[in-house]
Parts: sequence; C-alpha cells; structure tokens
Amino acid sequence: MSAQDPLETIQTVGEACRQALLDAEDVASLQAARQEVLGRKGRFVALTDLIKTAPKERKGQVGQAVNGLKKELAELVEQRQGELGVSAATGGVSSIDVTLPGTAPAVGALHPLTKIERHLVRVLASLGFEVTEGPEIEDEFHNFEALNIPSHHPARDESENFYLRGLPHLLRSQTSTVQIRTMEAESPPIRVCAPGRVFRPDTVDATHHYMFHQVEGLAVDRGITMADLKTTLLIFFKALFGDDVELRLRPSFFPFTEPSAEVDVHFGEKGWVEIGGCGMVDPNVFRSVGIDPDEWTGFAFGLGIERLAMRQFAVPDIRYFTENDVRFLKQLD
Ligand code: DAH
Repeated sequence: MSAQDPLETIQTVGEACRQALLDAEDVASLQAARQEVLGRKGRFVALTDLIKTAPKERKGQVGQAVNGLKKELAELVEQRQGELGVSAATGGVSSIDVTLPGTAPAVGALHPLTKIERHLVRVLASLGFEVTEGPEIEDEFHNFEALNIPSHHPARDESENFYLRGLPHLLRSQTSTVQIRTMEAESPPIRVCAPGRVFRPDTVDATHHYMFHQVEGLAVDRGITMADLKTTLLIFFKALFGDDVELRLRPSFFPFTEPSAEVDVHFGEKGWVEIGGCGMVDPNVFRSVGIDPDEWTGFAFGLGIERLAMRQFAVPDIRYFTENDVRFLKQLD
C-alpha cells in the first residue's frame, strides 16, 4: 500500500477541520473545535509534519498547501466567532454585556385626539356631566328635525351632508344629535357630555376636514340661565388651559338654541380662536322630546376638539391628525 499523497492528506484533513469548525453551534463548542484543529496537540500538527517528511522537490508545494489551509482555517474561526456573537478581541468570551440597557420594544400609544378627548371628558365629568355617546349614523329626526332644523333649511342640503344612498340616514354632522337622544331617554334634571366624530363634505385644507370631533354638553334643570352656561364654560377652559384663559361669547344663531353664541377663547400669546357654539336650549327642541319648556330650561354647547388641540399644541394643519405619521403622533404623545 503506497503512502497517501501529502496533498490528498492535506485536503482530507482540511475538510474534516473545516467541518468541525462549521459544526460548532455556540461559543464553547467553537472554542473546543478550534483547540481540536489548531491547538498545540490539534489535527493540524500532523500536517505541519508533512512538510518535514516531504521529498525535497515537493517541500515547497506541500508547505504552501499547509500554510494556505492554516490561514483559511484561522479565518474560518474568526468568521464563526463573529456569527456566534463573539468578538475576536475578547478571546472567545461572549461580548454580550448583560448589564447594558436593552433595546426597548416599540410600544403603541393612544392617538393624541383620543387622549385630548378623554381629558376634556374628565374635566366635564368633574363638573358633574355624565359621559354619553350616540351613533355616528343618524336619522334626519335626530340630526335636524328635533333640533329645530326644518326640512327647507339649507343645513339639510345634500351638498352639506353625507346622506346614505337610498336611506333616510346620514353620517351625523354634529354631536347635538346626542342632546335629543339623551332627552328622549331621560327626564330632567340632565347633565351630560357627549364626545364623538362628526362628518361634513367640506373641502379639506389646513383647517377643514370631512371628519372631525366635537364634544357636546347639555344641562337641563329648573331655573338654568345663561350665567350657568358662561360659568360652566369658563371653569372648563380654566381647567384645560389655566387661569389666564379668557372666554368670549359672541351673539350668533343656531336653530336649536335661543339665544345662541359663538364660543371664543384666548390664551397664551395668540389671539382669540373660535372653538364652537352654545346657547340656551330652544323651547321647540324641548317640545320635540316632550319636555315642558315652561318648567325646564337648559343650556347646550358644542366644541371642536381638533380646534382645541390645534390651539393648545400649536398644530398648524388639521390633516396631521389623520395622516398617521408617527413623527407627528409621537410629538403629541
Ligand atoms: N352643533 C353646532 C355645530 O356643529 C355647535 C353647537 C352650537 C352645539 C350651539 C350646541 C349649541 O350645543 O348649543 O356647529
């Protein structure tokens, strides 16, 4: 039996060494494999001996093959160390520093409008307003008729509302609908607030959207006056924006209140901003839900939540609220 050609031996042993390094599955077994291959008593020693025993004329060739293989295996060890999370510099000790703070997983958060809405509602609840809600799809009775908006009124125009095709329903254009639903279900005294979404086919720009949020308030009792309305709103805004806030009620008209006013607030550096409408519940509204207007009076208000939020957080464009750009949402988080 002739002795194996040294180059063949190098190849066979090289293959086994390579495999041993590749098979290592963790730091410890890689260390062991390296020892077995390249250590002082490792497999490689026998290959080095091949150079010595090779015939003179082949020494160069065999030496080259052995050294080439050694370099390759050393590189493979390094590569495997990298793959198994070990830096060469730490000499095989895991480079994971368990005392470092971890990478925090991204945690979701409530939408800024949800937070603001909850805050508004909390303040109103502290003033004795019970929180309630109504449906976003409404009928014409609750959205218009009962609110003293008769069928010929321009506010009922098709171009002003999202009517549902073929149905006597629409996406509510105001949360005032909830006033009606509440008074149908409960008898006075009543004190409720109702946050929610409303819809209007407005052309979208920096201050208009086809979908936005309002919070409605309604108080019905004996002897309620406009002074109660103004005081309630003032306390509400002070709780929200601080004692320096100013409130201005500007005479206006809404079919469901008489008298009616626009609600303007002033705080911080900026000037007055219109936040919504308010007024004393119109006797016709009471009649539509069977409440005697000679016995009961009430006030109501409806405020735009985006308006409040934009002013409070200096948000320049209402569209930011619905674009879901995380950079924006995080700023208001
Ligand atoms: N619903 C009105 C709107 O969307 C706002 C409003 C005005 C609500 C006067 C009220 C109110 O409750 O009394 O423009």
